[in-house]
Parts: sequence; C-alpha cells; structure tokens
Amino acid sequence: MTPLKIRSSTIARLAVAFAAVFAMGPAHIAGAAGDVTAGRALALKNCVKCHGTDGKGDGPAVAAEHLSPPPGDWTDKEDMSEHPDVFLRNIIEQGGAAMDKSLRMPAFGKKLTPAQVDDLIAYIRTFSK
Ligand code: HEC
Repeated sequence: MTPLKIRSSTIARLAVAFAAVFAMGPAHIAGAAGDVTAGRALALKNCVKCHGTDGKGDGPAVAAEHLSPPPGDWTDKEDMSEHPDVFLRNIIEQGGAAMDKSLRMPAFGKKLTPAQVDDLIAYIRTFSK
C-alpha cells in the first residue's frame, strides 16, 4: 500500500464515522438540548407547585408556604437571558442554597438524572422563546 492509499482509506473511515454521528441528531450528543415533552412531564410532577404551570413563579405553594422571594418568572425574556444553562443546571441539581438563592428551592441532583435536567432546561426555555 502506498502512503496515499492509507490516507484516503483513513479519511473514508472518518467520513463514515462523522456521517453516523450527524445521522443520530444533536439530541444524542452529550450536553445537547433536552426533550421538551419529557421536561414538561417532569415539571408537572416536581416543580409546578412552586413555579406554576405557566412558569411565572406563581404556583399554589408560593402563597401556601409563604415563599419569599417567590420563584422567578420564566416568561421574562430579559431575566432568563441572564441565566446561562449552567446556572439553571446548577440550581436544579444543587438547590437554591448552593447558589446563594432561596433555601426553599430544593436540590434535585439525587432525584433526577443529568438527562432529565437537560429536559427540564429545554422545557424552562420554552417560556421565554
Ligand atoms: C418548594 C418550592 C419549589 C419547588 C418544588 C421547585 N422550586 Fe425552583 N425555585 C423555588 C424558589 C423559591 C426559587 C427562587 C430562588 C431565589 O430567587 O432566591 C426557585 C428558583 C429556581 C430557578 C432559578 C430561576 C428562578 O425561577 O428563580 C430554577 C431554574 C428553578 N427554580 C427550577 C426548578 C425546577 C426545574 C424544579 C422542579 C424539578 C423546581 N425549581 C422546583 C422554589 C421551588
């Protein structure tokens, strides 16, 4: 085999590998956007009592449990654009206390998988699109 042949077959193999990754779609690449439908289901179960079904931070627990400060408004585009995904991930996984925020925001890092947190972040972002 000439060096040229080796190189072209290597390139061909790489091309196949890249094509396979692209065919899988971005959702399968680590750290890519989560699934909104799955995120909505997780939020209904774990978050809406405080954050509200409309994401405005006005769930029934806000008044019932005297949450002060209340959860933020996920429909506020300006506010939400100041929160990078890593902030959302950290406060969801580690809770408000770890982020110098309200102690009433629970930590879900032991309850939810990283992929589920991706799903929640994707869902939260729909309110400010
Ligand atoms: C017991 C009430 C409660 C529950 C349940 C709760 N949160 Fe929160 N969350 C809060 C409060 C209160 C804050 C406001 C923290 C602050 O600003 O000091 C907050 C803040 C946040 C923030 C930062 C932006 C904002 O809204 O202020 C995110 C993101 C968040 N929560 C996501 C979630 C997710 C996702 C869930 C469900 C998996 C959840 N929370 C469940 C009370 C709650």
